[in-house]
Amino acid sequence: MTYLVLDSIRNQTQDALKEQFAFDVLMGFSAPSKYLPSKYFYDAKGSKLFEQITGLEEYYPTRCEFEILSKVGSELAEFIQDKPFEIVELGAGDGCKTKVLLSKLLESTDAFSYIPIDISESAMADLIVSLKQSHPTLTTHGIVGDYFASIRHLENTSDNRKLVLLLGSNIGNFDFPSAKRFLHSIWKCLNHNDLLLIGFDLKKDIDVLTRAYNDKKGVTRAFNLNVLTRINNELDGEFDLNRFSHHGMYNPRHGAMESYLVSLEQQEVHIGALEKTFEFNPYEAIHLELSHKYLLSDMQKMANETGFNVLKNWQDSQGYFADGLWQVNKDFPESAY
Ligand SMILES: C[S@@+](CC[C@H](N)C(=O)[O-])C[C@H]1O[C@@H](n2cnc3c(N)ncnc32)[C@H](O)[C@@H]1O
Repeated sequence: MTYLVLDSIRNQTQDALKEQFAFDVLMGFSAPSKYLPSKYFYDAKGSKLFEQITGLEEYYPTRCEFEILSKVGSELAEFIQDKPFEIVELGAGDGCKTKVLLSKLLESTDAFSYIPIDISESAMADLIVSLKQSHPTLTTHGIVGDYFASIRHLENTSDNRKLVLLLGSNIGNFDFPSAKRFLHSIWKCLNHNDLLLIGFDLKKDIDVLTRAYNDKKGVTRAFNLNVLTRINNELDGEFDLNRFSHHGMYNPRHGAMESYLVSLEQQEVHIGALEKTFEFNPYEAIHLELSHKYLLSDMQKMANETGFNVLKNWQDSQGYFADGLWQVNKDFPESAY
């Protein structure tokens, strides 16, 4: 079991990565409505904090999808008759739910390999170590890289049939047009009849949603504030974390949970690497993350519009979360996209 850091990341020196981070911060803080890209959540500390979030009482998505994946293993195996095959996971994180699925599949066949992909090198290193213990016979090749660069590797791995996993509510972090573009770019890298198992957080009681993103222990708050800590540590920023509060709120028009950091007062913050000072008005927000919620009909529409046929939907017992099994349809005309 190994992992590979994609050349596109490895070849970027630390300086170039820092430059990209600095550029994104500059763009985000110079915009009329300030924002930061959510991929910067996941340094080593951010990945650990996310793992803690998944265990929180209020954070239902992991529990619900765990329940689904614990049930679907043998049924899923029936959809993959071609052996050997490859399981490629985008944004694998700690893989805690995937391990259940892998165990269930291993009860039917061991003719598959597992290729987790994640932007966080520390998350990947931890995942490889834990898989060595939990699934010592499984052939695993991890890739550290950005989704967008990594999916091109789907074309090169082998001609074996592929099952791509996009679990959690990773797809929810994209707005609808970007989600469609992302799914269609996955479609382009796959062959006819390849499979995608994709998680969707469903629309539900707004209080349940709001609680999930505003936990009592403040772990989500710490996760969001960690982005400012990263700016302090990596870009010589001077953020005082006590002068920002975290807000997770549901926007019913967009059907999405939105995460913000809000400046508690008028303040100026210098960022050394940018040689620039940014002004924050009282109550001014920095937008950090979107997490779109879906109806089953939205999932169907998304599949239809990106070149996939829906084979099956599974839901947890509360109806909070759904995983769809989609099949690549290469008869889908590119012009229809
Ligand atoms: C919300 S977590 C979900 C983890 C796991 N799939 C789950 O369901 O629990 C998102 C994961 O995707 C990774 N990630 C976020 N943006 C990414 C990107 N642009 N490319 C690759 N991985 C990314 C993060 O490092 C993190 O491990």
